[in-house]
Formats: sequence, C-alpha cells, structure tokens
Amino acid sequence: MIRATGISHIYQGPENVEVLRGVDLEVGAGDSVAVMGPSGSGKSTLLAILGALDRPTSGVVEVGGKSLAGLSAEALAEVRREQIGFVFQDHFLLPQCTLWENILLPSLGRSKERRGDAQVRAKELLARVELEDRAHHFPAELSAGQRQRAAIIRALVNRPSLLLADEPTGALDRRQSERLADLLVALQKAEGIAMVVATHSEDLARRMGRTVALVDGRLLAVEGGV
Ligand SMILES: Nc1ncnc2c1ncn2[C@@H]1O[C@H](COP(=O)(O)OP(=O)(O)OP(=O)(O)O)[C@@H](O)[C@H]1O
Ligand SMILES: [Mg+2]
Repeated sequence: MIRATGISHIYQGPENVEVLRGVDLEVGAGDSVAVMGPSGSGKSTLLAILGALDRPTSGVVEVGGKSLAGLSAEALAEVRREQIGFVFQDHFLLPQCTLWENILLPSLGRSKERRGDAQVRAKELLARVELEDRAHHFPAELSAGQRQRAAIIRALVNRPSLLLADEPTGALDRRQSERLADLLVALQKAEGIAMVVATHSEDLARRMGRTVALVDGRLLAVEGGV
C-alpha cells in the first residue's frame, strides 16, 4: 500500500538538522507497523512524509503504487483526502463542532453520495466505539479517551487505505491506552488497511504486526517485537 525508498530529510536552518538518512519502509494492506525511537529521532517527521504532509529532501514515497514525487500541492492534498487517515497525539477535534460534525468534516465537499456513505459509516463506527449517545456533545464534554476514539473514527470515515497515527495514546492513562490500542488494531484489521503508528509505548507497539526503530536517522527492524 505504501512504500518509502531511500527517504532522507534535512530541516534547513541556521544549523541544518539531518533527521532521516535513507529510510526504507513498505507496509501492505492489512499490515501494521510500530515506529519507535527516542524523542527527536524523527518519528513524526517520517509520518508527515509518509502522509504527504511534507516532502522528503530525497527519496520516493509511493502510495497505492503511485509516486508522490513531483505532485503539486493540490495533488498531494487529494492523495491525503482520498487515501490517508491521520490520528494525532492530541485529538484536534474542533471545539465549536459536535462530535457528529467533527467526524463528518473530512466528507464535506464530497459528492452527495459519498457524504451519505460517510454518514452511514459514521453511525456504525460511533456505535462500534460506544459513542453513539455522545454524537451531539461537544469535544469539551467528553473524556480524553472518548475524544481520541472520535478522532479515530474521523480518520476512518473516508475509507482511507492508509492510517497514520502519531502517539495516539500519548494523552491517555494506561487503561484508556490499552482500550484505544485494541480498538485501533481491531478497526485496522476489519478495514484491511495499512497502519503506521509512531509511539513510545511498548504496549502499543506489541499489538502491531511488527516494530521498527529509528536510530541515527535509519530504520532498524526490532527482532521479536519489543
Ligand atoms: N520544522 C522543523 N524545523 C527544524 N527542525 C525540526 C522541525 N521539526 C522537527 N525538527 C527536528 O527534527 C528532529 C526530529 O523531530 P521529530 O518531531 O520528527 O521527532 P520525534 O521522533 O517525533 O520526537 P518525539 O518522540 O518527541 O515526538 C528533532 O531534532 C527536531 O528538533
Ligand atoms: Mg513526534
């Protein structure tokens, strides 16, 4: 589903920061990968590049067999909208919108048919994460775990083929983290999509199909998981 080849990334500035140095990563449909590594090792940078939010200094990312290199900003936005769902450490729900409105945001601007499909799906997914009775509440009226579950639904509502999650359990206590990790994996398996999760949590990493670690800008396989 997604293949990154020879990805290097340098943040240019008064002092250049070379974060990634030749990273290769391939994640198929139905596969899940945890990316670990110390703070500042480049996990978020890698996810932003995989998710077409940032362009690598060199190297190629292919999503669904199509290279992102050379695509215009609009074409990249199209790839993000059509193929990729994002979950971040903080939920990024809009405070002035209800859960229902937040979840349907990615489907706005779609055809009537696609919006209808998104609504049916949003209902199903809300029930799946036990939030159907909270649909018309505002984010501030929910617990951190509930907000994070809503953020996952929002990421899935457009039927992405790739789900990227950057520290999705970072703001949660242990029990909530475990519930959220189980939910992420269950949904990812049910949807048969590719998933890449950046995390410091060994519990979360253990639930993924495999684990890799960023060390000095390179990606190493973690044998036997963590
Ligand atoms: N926009 C930027 N400009 C310059 N340097 C940056 C920028 N964004 C990140 N960096 C640097 O790149 C390195 C990698 O950052 P990144 O956020 O990818 O790490 P991370 O592994 O996600 O860390 P954490 O576990 O703390 O989230 C860090 O040294 C950071 O300071
Ligand atoms: Mg990060």
